[in-house]
Amino acid sequence: MIKPDAVANGHIGSILNDIIAGGFKIVALKYIKLTPESAGNFYAVHKERPFYADLVKFMTSGPIVAAILEKENAVEDFRKLIGATDPKKADEGTIRNKYAESIEANAVHGSDSDENAEIEGNFYFSQFERF
Ligand code: RTP
Ligand code: MG
Repeated sequence: MIKPDAVANGHIGSILNDIIAGGFKIVALKYIKLTPESAGNFYAVHKERPFYADLVKFMTSGPIVAAILEKENAVEDFRKLIGATDPKKADEGTIRNKYAESIEANAVHGSDSDENAEIEGNFYFSQFERF
């Protein structure tokens, strides 16, 4: 997912370029605005965390780009491409290093396991929307 901060700051194209240059195939893509209910469901795993309410508010503050990406070892390699959650700690050249504003407005989301990638892909896309 490209988060509202990166969309608002005009980074959609650059981030998609970095993703493609990183060897990922785009299998599905859409530009939408989440409702508080859908953002709350998407981040339900973080319900008990202190930042949950702020996160839902931030994720509904503007449109996002959702994508399904395909690659060998995709989950781990995508996390390397995006860098640490806190952009101050993200390695030079990573997407968060280049485009994120803060630990919350951190430009992109990546699935943390194959299992969650499946769940999150199904959250956004039907089987007819995938190539
Ligand atoms: P993501 O799920 O978005 O790819 O990010 P992540 O794995 O690197 O970080 P995670 O721990 O899963 O947290 C999810 C998102 O919550 C926001 N966050 N805010 N204020 C805070 O201390 C804080 N910590 C996390 C970030 O937007 C983070 O990406
Ligand atoms: Mg996460």
